[in-house]
Amino acid sequence: MAPRTLANSHPTLLPLLAPGVSVLDVGSGPGALTAEIARRVAPGRVVGLDVNREMARLAAEQHASPLIPNLVFAVGDIRAAEWHGEFDVVNAARTLQWIPDCPTALSRMVRATAPGGRVVAMDADLARVEWSGPPRPWSRFVSAFLEWRAAQGLENTLASRLPELLRKSGLAEVESVPRVTRVRATDADFFRLAGAWRMLAESRGRQMVAAGLLGERERSLALASFTRWMQRPGAAQTTWEACAVGRRQ
Ligand SMILES: C[S@@+](CC[C@H](N)C(=O)[O-])C[C@H]1O[C@@H](n2cnc3c(N)ncnc32)[C@H](O)[C@@H]1O
Repeated sequence: MAPRTLANSHPTLLPLLAPGVSVLDVGSGPGALTAEIARRVAPGRVVGLDVNREMARLAAEQHASPLIPNLVFAVGDIRAAEWHGEFDVVNAARTLQWIPDCPTALSRMVRATAPGGRVVAMDADLARVEWSGPPRPWSRFVSAFLEWRAAQGLENTLASRLPELLRKSGLAEVESVPRVTRVRATDADFFRLAGAWRMLAESRGRQMVAAGLLGERERSLALASFTRWMQRPGAAQTTWEACAVGRRQ
């Protein structure tokens, strides 16, 4: 996730950032995007929130004060957040798709936003990702992945549902910007974007094995076949994402 920049992975947020704007970045992960946000809005206050303690620690080590004085990282679940109207922008990039109860998460995001401020949510339609001529073990892994997610109440087509969810959470002037990204083996971004799926088979794949949804042999076969697929000259990956923005009334 580290090489992500706002320009290459979350461009809809860029026009909302200006010096002095305060931002809550929900699901800040390794903090690369949060750090870029903080640099763009300085001296505006920026908080990166992540439920994963280790992730928040690493992000703080690499980016937070004193390196970037207007940035702090906090550990916590957005569904239990207690901020009230404190931020001009509350952003969640690729985070709601990992939270089983999106409406609760969104309601806390709305509550943390100042009246007139913006809530920004960017997520993928994971069930729509396409690979050219995918190896069979990889297709099996992806089916198991979607099944594993659904079993935990995670939405596999969240990008399409974001506008409806934002409206239901009481936001006004909701707009959604769809983004289809097709990368081929020869594109500079191919290894970053296809590699994210490879990493997923490494990390989430192990959780799927532990949950009994996949055998370890199936997981390693999928990983090996996808790694070989990535080296094919004709390999191409297409992803569907959307970024929805709404105004707190
Ligand atoms: C896929 S990462 C996205 C990181 C970053 N926003 C980006 O786009 O590069 C999702 C992050 O959301 C965090 N997360 C998941 N559920 C959360 C919750 N309920 N509250 C806060 N953070 C959460 C995860 O720990 C993970 O670091």
